[in-house]
Amino acid sequence: MNTVLVTGGSGYIGSHTVLQLLEQNKNVIVFDNLSNSSLESLNRVSEITGKRAEFIEGDIRDTDALGDVFSKNDIDAVIHFAGLKAVGESVEKPMLYYENNVYGTLNLCNVMAQHGCKNIIFSSSATVYGDPAALPLHEGLPTGQPTNPYGQSKLMVELILKDICNADNDWNVVLLRYFNPVGAHPSGRIGEDPNGIPNNLMPFITQVATGKLKQLSVFGDDYNTPDGTGVRDYIHVEDLANGHLKALDKIASKAGLFTCNLGTGQGYSVLDMVKTFEAASGQKIPYVIAPRRSGDVASCYADPALAAKELGWKAEKGLKEMCEDSWRWQSNNPNGY
Ligand code: NAD
Ligand code: WQD
Repeated sequence: MNTVLVTGGSGYIGSHTVLQLLEQNKNVIVFDNLSNSSLESLNRVSEITGKRAEFIEGDIRDTDALGDVFSKNDIDAVIHFAGLKAVGESVEKPMLYYENNVYGTLNLCNVMAQHGCKNIIFSSSATVYGDPAALPLHEGLPTGQPTNPYGQSKLMVELILKDICNADNDWNVVLLRYFNPVGAHPSGRIGEDPNGIPNNLMPFITQVATGKLKQLSVFGDDYNTPDGTGVRDYIHVEDLANGHLKALDKIASKAGLFTCNLGTGQGYSVLDMVKTFEAASGQKIPYVIAPRRSGDVASCYADPALAAKELGWKAEKGLKEMCEDSWRWQSNNPNGY
């Protein structure tokens, strides 16, 4: 698995993964349409590693552009991050999400098959479990009913990739179900750079800390959780990125279809996050209790045992490091890239 195509590689999780691939001396090609990222992320990855990924600006829905990449390079595997991920936007623009995330992936797989590259790692999400049938969430549980088109698009792609694998034994597919990625590279040079007002908890908190946003709204304090606020399995983006390197090894062993959680196994509440962030950053985070956000579940955390057993992977970094690294990134780059 020496030459790796990384779709969406200039984005948040992609850039942290590209960094680790370069550190492992892989030959990396990034394919991204820059719809939700800046090329500056990859410039900084080069600055940190002293190595460079080849960058191609292109859209996964563009068959010719993808075909060109595969014609010119001998690609061993694809790590497929490219996709739109804003839950609220997906409710407003379902067709855009299905076209980008579902059709885009189908197009990618078609081009891959035409060029004889049948190894793919897909960025799925814990959202495919829907409202948890049991906790912690393990891969043996049935997938549920995601509450929005974004989540549905992840579940649809999982089903498509499973069928592709069932139909042709040459395919090796790893479906990685991420829990809640946060944190940044400890250099503070790359990190999460959302457009506009963040939807997710950590970037919202970091922007309150810089003074860009006035206060955090805590969405509900009447859940059946220890302090009444929502519980999630936050995972450091560097640990998450490392999971993809382990997944490449799995693919090299010709594992066929493999589905796996990437989480820590530990749930923290919104108020745990606020307290830990305040201690890590020395900044006060003013908050108000607001109504529940529609579509949210009370608790969601992983059983990470399968990843440990089959990938030899385990999350190493705790909540304190996640908060410290997120704060270093945000305070050094208050306006992002
Ligand atoms: P991101 O938006 O930072 O990165 C996605 C990248 O894909 C961006 O650089 C964007 O420009 C690119 N992209 C989007 N559509 C494209 C297209 N049609 N063609 C080419 N490039 C395209 O998001 P991220 O947080 O790094 O997420 C990466 C992947 O992981 C996504 O598929 C996302 O759905 C999935 N995921 C993210 C989370 C999370 O909380 N961040 C959780 C679970 C799953
Ligand atoms: C975490 C907790 C909120 C913001 C979402 C997607 C999922 C995945 C990751 C990505 C919840 C609370 C949040 C705020 C708050 N997708 N919260 N105030 O909802 O677990 O997962 O992102 O690509 O598919 O659904 O993450 O960070 O939005 O919320 O109180 O301003 O923080 O209610 O309990 P979530 P999140």
